[in-house]
Amino acid sequence: TIPKKVRLVEVGPRDGLQNEKQPISVADKVRLVDDLTAAGLGYVEVGSFVSPKWVPQMAGSAEVFAQIQRKAGVTYAGLAPNLKGFEAAVEAGVKEVAVFAAASESFSQKNINCSIAESLERFVPVMEAAKAHGISVRGYVSCVLGCPYEGEVPAEQVASVAAELYAMGCYEVSLGDTIGTGTAGATRHLINVVGTRVPRDRLAGHFHDTYGQAVANVYASLLEGVAVFDSSVAGLGGCPYAKGATGNVATEDVLYLLNGLGIQTGIDIDQLAAAGQRICAVLGKENGSRVARAILAS
Ligand code: HMG
Ligand code: MG
Repeated sequence: TIPKKVRLVEVGPRDGLQNEKQPISVADKVRLVDDLTAAGLGYVEVGSFVSPKWVPQMAGSAEVFAQIQRKAGVTYAGLAPNLKGFEAAVEAGVKEVAVFAAASESFSQKNINCSIAESLERFVPVMEAAKAHGISVRGYVSCVLGCPYEGEVPAEQVASVAAELYAMGCYEVSLGDTIGTGTAGATRHLINVVGTRVPRDRLAGHFHDTYGQAVANVYASLLEGVAVFDSSVAGLGGCPYAKGATGNVATEDVLYLLNGLGIQTGIDIDQLAAAGQRICAVLGKENGSRVARAILAS
C-alpha cells in the first residue's frame, strides 16, 4: 500500500544550483529559499559546506543561511563532507546536515577525493560532533542505480553503504540515482535489497531525471513503502562530477503526482511553480518542470 503521508525534501537551492557556471547572487538564493518555504515546503537543503575549489557555486552558503527568513517548523539543511564542513555549518547556525557517500569507488574518488571506506571514516567524527551539538544528520548514497564511471552498481553494494550510514547514526538515508539511469523495476529491486538492511521508513528516494524516468521511479518507490523524496523546483540541477546528468525530479511534478494520489503535503502548487519560474528567469533557463510549464501556460 502507498504511504498516506509523504515528506518532500527540496534540494533545488543546493543540488539545483551547485552546477551552475554563472554567478548567482546571495540575494537570489535567499529569495529562492524563502519562496519555497512560503509555498509550503517544510524541508529545504539550502547549501553546502564543501571546498570552494571543488564547487565554487556553494561558496556563499553561510551568507545564504544568515539571510533567509527562518520559518517555524521548517528544516534548513546543509551538506558537510567532513569535520571542517560540519564546523562551518555549525558556525552558520545550521541545525541539520547531510553527509554524502557513494556506492561506487570511482564516483567517490571524483566527488570527494577518497575511497568509500575513507569517506565513512571521515563521517564518524562528524556524527560525534553532531550528537554533541544536537544536530540531526541525514546520509546520502550516490550512484545507487548506476555510476557514470563504472556503469552498473550492485544493489548489495548500495545496501552495505546505506547500512553503514544508518548504523553510524544517520536518521535517514537518501538513495541517489545520480545519473538518472534507473527504471521503475530497478528501483523496486533496489528498495527490496536495501530494505533488508535499513528500515523502509528510514529511506528516501533522490532521483535525477536524465532519462525521464524520475516520476516513475518515485511512484515505484511509493509502491515499496518509501515516503520521503528529494526534488528540485523547476527540475534544476545536475552533479558537477556526473557529466551529462540533468537535474533532480521537479518538485512540481512530484507534487502533481502526490495530489493525484490524494496525498496531502500542504504545498501550494501554483506558488511553487511561480517560485521555480522566478529562479529560471534569473538563470535565463527554460523551466524543467513539465507540470510548471503547463500551469504557467494555462
Ligand atoms: P580534498 O582536496 O581531498 O581535501 O577535498 P583536503 O582535506 O585535502 O583539503 C584540501 C583543501 O580543501 C584545504 O585547503 C582544506 O582546508 C580545504 P587549502 O589548505 O588547500 O587551502 N577543505 C575545505 N574547504 C571548505 N570546506 C570544507 C573543506 N574540506 C577541506 N568542507 C573534499 C575533499 C571533500 C573537501 C572535496 O572533495 C569537496 O569539497 N567535495 C565536494 C563535492 C561536492 O560538493 N559534490 C556535490 C555534492 S554531492 C551530490 O551532488 C550528490 C547528491 O545530490 C546525491 C546524488 O544525486 O547522488 C547528494
Ligand atoms: Mg543529487
